[in-house]
Order: sequence, then C-alpha cells, then structure tokens
Amino acid sequence: MEFKPSSDSGVDSWKEVTLVYNSALKEIGTKLEILNDEFQHVHRYNPIEHIKSRLKSPESIVRKLKKHGYESTIENMVKHVNDIAGVRVICSFTSDIYRIAEMLTNQNDIKIICVKDYIKNPKPSGYRSYHMIVSIPIFLSDRKTEATVEIQIRTVAMDFWASLEHKINYKFEGKAPVFIKNELIECSKIIYELDERMLSLNDQVLLYSQLKEV
Ligand code: GTP
Ligand code: MG
Repeated sequence: MEFKPSSDSGVDSWKEVTLVYNSALKEIGTKLEILNDEFQHVHRYNPIEHIKSRLKSPESIVRKLKKHGYESTIENMVKHVNDIAGVRVICSFTSDIYRIAEMLTNQNDIKIICVKDYIKNPKPSGYRSYHMIVSIPIFLSDRKTEATVEIQIRTVAMDFWASLEHKINYKFEGKAPVFIKNELIECSKIIYELDERMLSLNDQVLLYSQLKEV
C-alpha cells in the first residue's frame, strides 16, 4: 500500500502516522481505564464491560478516500479520515454510555469534534450507538501534534445487534433481502426495550438494597 508523502500535515510518513494514531489509542484507552477504576473505587461499580480498539487498515483508508473522491495522500487521510484510530466501549446500561461520554467531554485535553447520538436517533438500519470524534494532543520528542479518534460507546445488547448486522451485510455484500432488513429493524427495537427494562431492573435492585441497608 503506497501513500504519497506530504509535509503540510505535520506528518510525512506512513510509519509516523501509525505511531501517532497508535499513541492516540493508548491515550484514550488509559483515560477510559482510569475512569472505570475510579468509578469502581467511588461507586463500587464498573460502567465499562470491555474496550476494543483498532487502527484502520491501509486498504480501508484508501477505499474511504476514494469513496469521497480524494487522492491517497498522507495529508488527505489525516484531514478527511477521522476513524483511523477507533475505540469501542461496551457498557452494561444506556445510562453508563452518557456517563462515560460526559466524563470524557469534561477532560480539558480532549477536544470534541463531533457527536452523533444514534441512540436517540437510530440509523434507518436500526443501528444504535453513541459516537464521538475527538482530538487529543500527542507529545513526541520534539513537538506536539493532534490526533483524532472515533469513540463508539454502546451497550452489550447494541453491540450484539451491530456485530450480527455487520456479518449479515457482509454475507449479502450490503444487499440483504428486505425481509431480513425489516427483521433487523424489529430486533433493534426489541434490544432498545430490553436495554430500558434491564436499566429499570437495575435501578430497582439498587433501591431495594439501599432500603435494606437502612
Ligand atoms: P463510515 O464511512 O462508515 O465511517 O460512516 P460515517 O463517517 O458516516 O460515520 P458513522 O458515524 O455513520 O459510522 C461510523 C461507524 O459506525 C461505521 O464505520 C461502523 O463501525 C458503525 N456503523 C454505522 N452505521 C452502522 C450500521 O448501520 N450497522 C453497523 N453494524 N455499524 C454501523
Ligand atoms: Mg468507519
């Protein structure tokens, strides 16, 4: 995979770009772990079930640039592809999602570039998740640079739906029959209701145990 180098963007080789985005993944991963540990310490509860992170493959970066009509240059990928570094945060409850998003937003070295709330406004496919594109500073030996990271925050149930839908779309090369698409939309609604009921159940359990302590 060849990228044409450019010096305008501040990074001029594929190796350097990879290093910067990998560092961004580590920074966000550590921030999330600290929040989870502190939450466990204060509230005796882990809002995060697990975290997955990945760097977009050079092939997918080139495909995305091509799709949007850009030449495959380092400068274009840094400027136009904001999901080169991706972190997926899986939580138990919908309330945890907003809690984590707020805690990240309150950190003043994180710049929020864009937020897409596909929980309040699901995609026509039925997809639900909370997306944030953020930028964080990366300190190198001789300078400071910024890197963008796409953070997807979702519940275990939303993640189950998204991975199955992704597999189905892959199998049908994006052209799944209408009855399957409709069934996925129905499942997404059931998952939303399930998340709501599990949250309410958890609230009742907390209330019950608090009352028993009194
Ligand atoms: P991409 O070009 O796919 O990155 O989309 P975008 O730049 O318009 O951003 P968007 O927030 O819509 O989607 C970003 C990512 O969210 C995707 O790369 C997927 O990981 C996930 N996603 C978005 N829509 C769907 C969907 O309908 N199904 C599944 N399974 N995942 C989705
Ligand atoms: Mg993407």
